[in-house]
Amino acid sequence: MEVLLDTCGRGIYLLLIYIFLLKAAAECPKPGTNGNIVLTNDALLMNDFPEGSEVTLECATGYEIESGSGVINCIDGKWTKPDLTCRKKDCGPPNPKPNMSFNTSQGTLFGAIATVICDKGYHLSGLGYKQCFDGGWGGRAKCEIVLCDIPAQVANGRIVWDSKDDPKYGEVIQFVCDEGYTLDGTDSIKCGENGEYDFMPPQCVGVTTERTTSPPVTPAAGTSSGTTSSETSTVHRDKTITTSATPAVSPSARGTEKMSPNELISM
Ligand SMILES: *[C@@H]1O[C@H](CO)[C@@H](O)[C@H](O)[C@H]1NC(C)=O
Ligand SMILES: *[C@@H]1O[C@H](CO)[C@@H](O)[C@H](O)[C@H]1NC(C)=O
Repeated sequence: MEVLLDTCGRGIYLLLIYIFLLKAAAECPKPGTNGNIVLTNDALLMNDFPEGSEVTLECATGYEIESGSGVINCIDGKWTKPDLTCRKKDCGPPNPKPNMSFNTSQGTLFGAIATVICDKGYHLSGLGYKQCFDGGWGGRAKCEIVLCDIPAQVANGRIVWDSKDDPKYGEVIQFVCDEGYTLDGTDSIKCGENGEYDFMPPQCVGVTTERTTSPPVTPAAGTSSGTTSSETSTVHRDKTITTSATPAVSPSARGTEKMSPNELISM
């Protein structure tokens, strides 16, 4: 009786081991992935991979199928070799935008960075680069035209600028002197690529210095000494205006002035 029980117990034990081994032999482990090849979401949710089961692999984010289907099968407890090969997605050249170009020396594949280059006279607003993501180029950038401050008014003359807007790169401001005054300097200045004018604003000076006999049509012009004093005050006033030019600009003009350092950084 004892012997019988013993044999029976051992038999069950062996049977269990046999079933276990059979099952183990028929199961595949969770498929491993490498680098740019990953499991599909469906496969990720699976826990058991019995003999004969099929799993699909796919390309990782930023990669696309170069060849193969990605299907692998569990045969004799082992996965068949995946036939899938993946390559990086190509974002292609970034979309053209006005007054902007790109340095794509890093290429245009997934992960590449293209730096933004603004045309001369334009400054960068936003990110200075674009990056190739899974869904295409990302990063907002804009090239905006450079602005110059409206020049301060000149004494005994005026600037020819009717707009409230700041002059843009390449735009020209003209100066006209009141009657009896002539320009000392250039009659026009041009807004340059760095937001500065190409020349200093001119001054309007009285034309009385040499012609003491025929004083100009200034209302206060009485004697020659009077003209001289009004002239020196003119020069003095011009100087005052020149030195106070920067604080005298309007808040909006100062706003654009604030952009100048950015613009320098972007260059
Ligand atoms: C800037 O872009 C505008 C619109 O595309 C174009 O008309 C202009 O010529 C460009 N300026 C420069 C300096 O390339
Ligand atoms: C583009 O950028 C690389 C560095 O990433 C630099 O060496 C190269 O000179 C740049 N090319 C142009 C045209 O700016």
